[in-house]
Amino acid sequence: MSDSIGTDQKDSMSNANTTQTVAGGPAGQGQSVRVVEVGPRDGLQNERVAVPTHAKVEMIERLVEAGVRDVEIGSFVHPKWVPQMADTAEVARRIRREPGVRYWALVPNMRGLDFARSASLEHIAVFMSSSETHNRKNLNRTISESLATVTQVIKEATGSGMEVRGYISTVFGCPYEGDVPFDRVLEIGSGLLEAGATQISLGDTTGMGTPLQVREGCGRAVETFGPDHVALHLHDTRGLGLVNALQGLEAGMRIFDSSMGGMGGCPYAPGAAGNLGTEDLLYMLNSLGYHTGIDLDRVVAISRDLELEHGATLSSKYFRYAGARL
Ligand code: HMG
Ligand code: MG
Repeated sequence: MSDSIGTDQKDSMSNANTTQTVAGGPAGQGQSVRVVEVGPRDGLQNERVAVPTHAKVEMIERLVEAGVRDVEIGSFVHPKWVPQMADTAEVARRIRREPGVRYWALVPNMRGLDFARSASLEHIAVFMSSSETHNRKNLNRTISESLATVTQVIKEATGSGMEVRGYISTVFGCPYEGDVPFDRVLEIGSGLLEAGATQISLGDTTGMGTPLQVREGCGRAVETFGPDHVALHLHDTRGLGLVNALQGLEAGMRIFDSSMGGMGGCPYAPGAAGNLGTEDLLYMLNSLGYHTGIDLDRVVAISRDLELEHGATLSSKYFRYAGARL
């Protein structure tokens, strides 16, 4: 693993639970950060090349072997709108499931929940937007209609023992409407948690968040929801992905979504470039002394094979340009 601190050092620090500042900046001191790998869903949903089912299955299994414990495997949406995800049920059926790993799929409505159940998935992510126009384009519903649907899905799913994560998109700005009041984001998030979701993921869908905005928003979200119940989902449209991840980290966020190779985007959000790349995020977290349990070199190898074998276009800086750090 291309880690800037040794294993012994990491082990000896692993019980520390407070962030400390050392010469040169903040240090994770062995604290854990959970990385949710969204490449097989957010990444591939926006890829122009079609990746065959067997390759998705292999990709997901290799990510788990690399140490990923939360992985989005696809979405149960209309195949007419997102054809790249049409084989999610088959992916779910074929993957070897490892204990302790959460295999997530996106579900927009009750129909999607039925599909997820039939595929024996126990972890679903519902999604809606904090801006009316993006919600309409993405889900063909008003915010209040989506809230009602998503609340029903959460209640039904949790009632049968499933775990639900709730995405809120465009939290730091909407490509159609501009700024979004963060109070609205907190209000939607509180509603989803109250309905039974265990975690809110704050989506900077088109990378509009500025560092000061992200720091303030994340601070408020951590205070309102608690660090175990909120994640940061960044897209790197304006090159601020890592900067914003660091702002989130310093504001107390401990769960981050990222996509191998920096793939990704929302088909209904112009300018939704790739997600924050997993390799870039891991390199930063490792160098700050945070523990993720994910092997960076193995993730690079999976991205490399995806690019070589299927012609995906990957943009993560560490993947693209960096070799091992001597
Ligand atoms: P709709 O047309 O309003 O749905 O679409 P409807 O309820 O009126 O039904 C119309 C037809 O769709 C019916 O079929 C339904 O059965 C079918 P017909 O009778 O005409 O044959 N249908 C479905 N089919 C498959 N799966 C379903 C489903 N539900 C209904 N779940 C719908 C509503 C949500 C389905 C549609 O708008 C859709 O699929 N949208 C795609 C949304 C999407 O996948 N967006 C990308 C993911 S979100 C994202 O990337 C952001 C995120 O990363 C966070 C961030 O970055 O901010 C999460
Ligand atoms: Mg996204």
